[in-house]
Order: sequence, then structure tokens, then C-alpha cells
Amino acid sequence: MSAGTGPAERPLAFAPSILASDFLRLGELLSECERGGAERIHVDVMDGLFVPNLSMGLPIVEAVRRGTRLPVEVHLMIERPERYLEDFSRAGGDRLIVHQEATDHLHRAVHQVRELERKVSVALNPATPVGTLDHVIEELDSVLVMTVNPGFGGQKFIASMLPKIRRLRAILDERNPACEVEVDGGIDERTAPLAAEAGATALVAGTSVFAATGGPAGGLARLRSCCAGIAHRASR
Ligand code: DX5
Ligand code: ZN
Repeated sequence: MSAGTGPAERPLAFAPSILASDFLRLGELLSECERGGAERIHVDVMDGLFVPNLSMGLPIVEAVRRGTRLPVEVHLMIERPERYLEDFSRAGGDRLIVHQEATDHLHRAVHQVRELERKVSVALNPATPVGTLDHVIEELDSVLVMTVNPGFGGQKFIASMLPKIRRLRAILDERNPACEVEVDGGIDERTAPLAAEAGATALVAGTSVFAATGGPAGGLARLRSCCAGIAHRASR
């Protein structure tokens, strides 16, 4: 493999999802994520409409922003996310993730995030094809491939998403090589290497970080070690 700065050389990033954390201990758990080498913190915002669950909103994003030096990514599982992009940016979201399925105006939403000077990502539900990104793909900093149907932590990884990750990585290598492929849902020591091998460059993990023996630092160390060496083979 040639030396360079292409996606194949990028190390794998880990984004602990605080949905699985004990909120009473959030501050100390964020510090443990930092100690464990997490690259960024993932906050799952659910509105009870786009997904059949309610979770957290602006005050938690603000608290996480104050509680860590790591970048904060906000996964907006809400209908018409364009209504709240400015608010989540102001609350401290460094990367705003909107669902392709949640808006009729994906192009506008992507550009809104750009204008806010935040990183922009689009999430795809398991049933949503990669082709739906055709007209925005060059604009994105990352794509979030859902490997569970969104709404809940602790679900089983959908293995049939692996070819989708591969296809997406191949398209990105042609059209937007700097764009990250982030994978969310059911990531653990068994599935993390599969996702990384398929071309994921960032992994979201809730249960396998916050319910891990040894806490978040232990969970992150185990996830990283089972993926060791794989990131370099991804996206050839
Ligand atoms: C699911 C969320 C995920 C979830 C991941 O709707 O988007 O980020 O918290 O949790 P685990 O890693 O437990 O599947
Ligand atoms: Zn998420």
C-alpha cells in the first residue's frame, strides 16, 4: 500500500454513546472515556416521532460540552432536524448528524450545518440505500451507517449492513475520499472488527463501552485491541 493521507491510512476513531451511561455519573464517565482514548462523544437525541423513544436534548448536549474536551457529535433522531440545527450548534455540537429519512430537504439541512461551520454527517437507516446520498455526498464530513434500527441501545448488529458499508466506502473513495464512514449500533468486540474490515473509519459504541468490565476505559481498550491492524486494510 502506498504511503499518503488517503482513508486507508486513517486510524479508527471511537465515539462512546452516552445513551448507555449512568447519567448520575456522567462527568466522571466522560473523563474515563477521555482516559480510554475516545476520539469524540456521541449524543443520541430522540423525539418519540422519528424513533419510538425519547432520550435527551439541548441541556445534555450543553452539559457534555462543559464536561469534556473531546469533540461532541449529536445524532439527531428527530423529524425535520433543520428546525434545531442552530440550537444544537450553539449548545456545543461539533458534528451534527441528520437522518436522510427525517427531512424532505436534505440538501438544505446539509448546507445549513455547513453555514454553522460544524462538521456535517448524514445517517442512513438500515433500509435506506446509499444512493439516496447521491446529491449531497461531496458535501459531507461523514456518513453514519446504522447497523440497528435506531431508537434503542443494546440491540443486535445487523450483519447484512456490511456490504452496504463496503459499497459506501468504495463510492466515497471515488467522490469524497476524506469523508468518514461511521457505524452505529450493536458494536462490540465481535462486530467492531467486521465493521472496520468493511471500511468503517469511526465506530459508535454504547453498551460495550459503558457496561464494560473495567468501565469505559476498559471497554475502549478491548474494542481498540480487537480492531488492531484492521483500519489499515480498510478501503483499499
Ligand atoms: C441507537 C443509537 C445508538 C446507540 C448505540 O438508536 O443511535 O447510538 O446508543 O448503542 P449500542 O452500542 O448499545 O448499540
Ligand atoms: Zn447514535
